Amino acid sequence: MMKKFQMMELEEMFGVKVLDRYSVVLGIFRHHASTREAKLQVALAELPYIRKRVSGDTQRTMVMEREKRLKAALTKLAGIRAQVRRGRERSNLPTVAVVGYTNAGKTSLIRSITGDKRAEGKDQLFATLDVTAHGGRLPCGVEVAFIDTVGFIQDIPTDLVASFKATLEDAVYADVIVHIRDASHPDYESQGPIVVQTLSSLPLPETTPIITVANKIDLGMAKPEDAFKDVHLVSAATGQGLEELMASIETEVLRVTGRRTWKFSLPTGSDQIQWLRRATGLAQEEIDQGDPQVTHVIAVLTDQELAAYQRNFRS
Ligand code: GTP
Repeated sequence: MMKKFQMMELEEMFGVKVLDRYSVVLGIFRHHASTREAKLQVALAELPYIRKRVSGDTQRTMVMEREKRLKAALTKLAGIRAQVRRGRERSNLPTVAVVGYTNAGKTSLIRSITGDKRAEGKDQLFATLDVTAHGGRLPCGVEVAFIDTVGFIQDIPTDLVASFKATLEDAVYADVIVHIRDASHPDYESQGPIVVQTLSSLPLPETTPIITVANKIDLGMAKPEDAFKDVHLVSAATGQGLEELMASIETEVLRVTGRRTWKFSLPTGSDQIQWLRRATGLAQEEIDQGDPQVTHVIAVLTDQELAAYQRNFRS
């Protein structure tokens, strides 16, 4: 029943009769693969399909050669991606990965909370095959990278699982995961476990917090209220519930990255204030009511950032 519904969904979205799920999913992957890595992944996923159709040793050898070349190129790109990730780690930028069933509203949520116009929500399956990072800020001022991930679906053909999981690699390294679900979808209850099961098959550290969000509440909820216990009810479209969600993301990010809140009273307009603003953003900045020469600031710092601040401004 579930599978049938998805086929109908695919047919509706693309206006084609679905005869072969593998080639349809492959087609969607191909259509949305915008980076070199995603294109390679799709090309690799196409090989089993091609292999079934070739005959003769020469053709088979050519397919094998192609597979070897694609894998080598992917290994190289994985190295580059790891470098970018290390750069992000070195810059101390916390990361929040947004995962969820396809069309749940991952891109829309990221756009709402970061105001990032690059993350355009499209009403299409798999709008985001590639993992992409968008800069945002927590309410306390700390900068965060929100990572958009590929949409999950049920029964991904076995040969496509590897390419699907590869696009989730960045989620594995995220400090916090936000799992977004579509509260208005008739399959609300079955979509959640598909995502949770896939996540549990990834080498995710046990300590990574997962915040669950039920989105699209402006469209009404498809299930009785009981089904939404322990989740944040939000609407990426209207902004409802996003403030509470951000507060919760902030709590988890600060906890797992060991950031603490510090209060300083500093000379107004001083280098110290500028340093703090540049290093972490400021949660609060207030000129003293009695003495305009003094500014009270609240900054959220890691122990390393605090040590660097103290080194810079030792009096
Ligand atoms: P994939 O990348 O395909 O997995 O999709 P996604 O999870 O990133 O979903 P996306 O943000 O592209 O949103 C899918 C559709 O749902 C778009 O048409 C959005 O405009 C719509 N949508 C997202 N959030 C909301 C919401 O809170 N309310 C309403 N009414 N529509 C929403």
